[in-house]
Amino acid sequence: MAVRGHLLSLLVLLALAAAAAAGGGGTPSTGTGTLVPAAPGASLSDRARDDRHRHAYIRSTLALRRRAAEVGASAFAMPLSSGAYTGTGQYFVRFRVGTPAQPFVLVADTGSDLTWVKCRGAAPSPADAQPPPPARVFRPADSKSWAPIACASDTCTSYVPFSLANCSSPASPCAYDYRYKDGSAARGVVGTDSATIALSSSSGGADSSRRAKLQGVVLGCTASYDGQSFQSSDGVLSLGNSNISFASRAAARFGGRFSYCLVDHLAPRNATSFLAFGPAPGPATQRTPLLLDRRMSPFYAVTVDAVYVAGEALDIPADVWDVGSNGGAILDSGTSLTILATPAYRAVVAALSKRLAGLPRVAMDPFEYCYNWTAGAPEVPALEVHFAGSARLEPPAKSYVIDAAPGVRCIGVQEGAWPGVSVIGNILQQEHLWEFDLRDRWLRFKHTRCAQ
Ligand SMILES: *[C@@H]1O[C@H](CO)[C@@H](O)[C@H](O)[C@H]1NC(C)=O
Ligand SMILES: *[C@@H]1O[C@H](CO)[C@@H](O)[C@H](O)[C@H]1NC(C)=O
Ligand SMILES: *[C@@H]1O[C@H](CO)[C@@H](O)[C@H](O)[C@H]1NC(C)=O
Ligand SMILES: *[C@@H]1O[C@H](CO)[C@@H](O)[C@H](O)[C@H]1NC(C)=O
Repeated sequence: MAVRGHLLSLLVLLALAAAAAAGGGGTPSTGTGTLVPAAPGASLSDRARDDRHRHAYIRSTLALRRRAAEVGASAFAMPLSSGAYTGTGQYFVRFRVGTPAQPFVLVADTGSDLTWVKCRGAAPSPADAQPPPPARVFRPADSKSWAPIACASDTCTSYVPFSLANCSSPASPCAYDYRYKDGSAARGVVGTDSATIALSSSSGGADSSRRAKLQGVVLGCTASYDGQSFQSSDGVLSLGNSNISFASRAAARFGGRFSYCLVDHLAPRNATSFLAFGPAPGPATQRTPLLLDRRMSPFYAVTVDAVYVAGEALDIPADVWDVGSNGGAILDSGTSLTILATPAYRAVVAALSKRLAGLPRVAMDPFEYCYNWTAGAPEVPALEVHFAGSARLEPPAKSYVIDAAPGVRCIGVQEGAWPGVSVIGNILQQEHLWEFDLRDRWLRFKHTRCAQ
């Protein structure tokens, strides 16, 4: 309720874009001098000079107007790439925050509601013995736009996940101890700051000359953390469905939606695609309702109607896909391998392994079915996931019979507890554009290499 102040401050400043608008002509001044008509009797060369000035003024004014109009309807994008080069199964996004802007590499995570960066003095807790790499750290004291959030504020008490109950004095900083499902954790204090964004054209390309600031981004300043997940990144960019997540706040300002395109998870570091806010570049061909269910928050749930292998519908109880029966399926950019609740896992693995039975088996953790793939490339049966509204995900074979080692491929799904939710991980999502339309509640997608 009382968070309105923060929402209202979520504005894009056009000032920086305006500075870039003058093109080669330098920063436009107020320009009043150039509006004075040439004095009678002034020489033609004086008139010509004045006309040139006036023309430059007119052009820059029009450029500003055009740019302002574009920004109003615009989008912004950030480079996104696979983190495989660090040995993790995450996708990384480049993010700039603070004034002046400090650059970071963050995990793009649809399963998170708090965005945070490692702060000065951040260190893994002693249990994780390895010394920290010489990481970039955020220095709140060096950012003119950093504002701590008080522990007694509505934002802290209602929306910051894992905020600590101790609030001895109302103006103390809002502290958190964020616990992730995999056992990792991050501890620090929350504030708001401005993110620097590169406005993009309708074709999706980011144009670094058109920067703007997104104010009021809720940001955790993490002083200590546990877990391998955070060794190779500077923190997490929250794309979850939650009031304070970066995704919901940025989408609220840019068309109510965001999208990402995931390159092959084994792609090199320089193979970048994008995380974009505003209309997705290029129309997606498939769509299914996005279930922004409170019970599933901050996750994005979708309804699976059926799973097919080699054209045959698998026999999976409907409960498995029903959020109301403690089942359901979510799409998660922060999970690498797809996790299927037991009945779905059994059915999928049985159908795939039956058709790969001619291959020599190899044992390899954590997979149940791995094969020696050196003897040739057998045909992998097609896997199709049908969603409500007749949307079909037809992932390439490499997304579910995955490269696990040289010459070894495995059925790349994991078994999850039943009852329990199933998770469509980022490998199954790779080489697709995914658009999360939070305003109209659609998930749209299409197959694409995501190469730029
Ligand atoms: C209370 O919060 C502060 C941060 O404001 C933190 O440093 C401290 O450890 C917390 N104390 C307890 C007992 O949790
Ligand atoms: C945050 O919550 C408030 C009050 O519940 C709501 O009015 C507002 O729209 C929410 N903002 C976002 C970005 O979800
Ligand atoms: C990445 O770098 C490699 C080697 O430097 C180069 O061959 C390749 O074309 C680059 N790929 C992209 C997508 O830029
Ligand atoms: C796969 O089979 C080839 C040929 O039989 C063999 O040389 C190789 O060691 C096998 N690879 C594994 C991982 O078992």
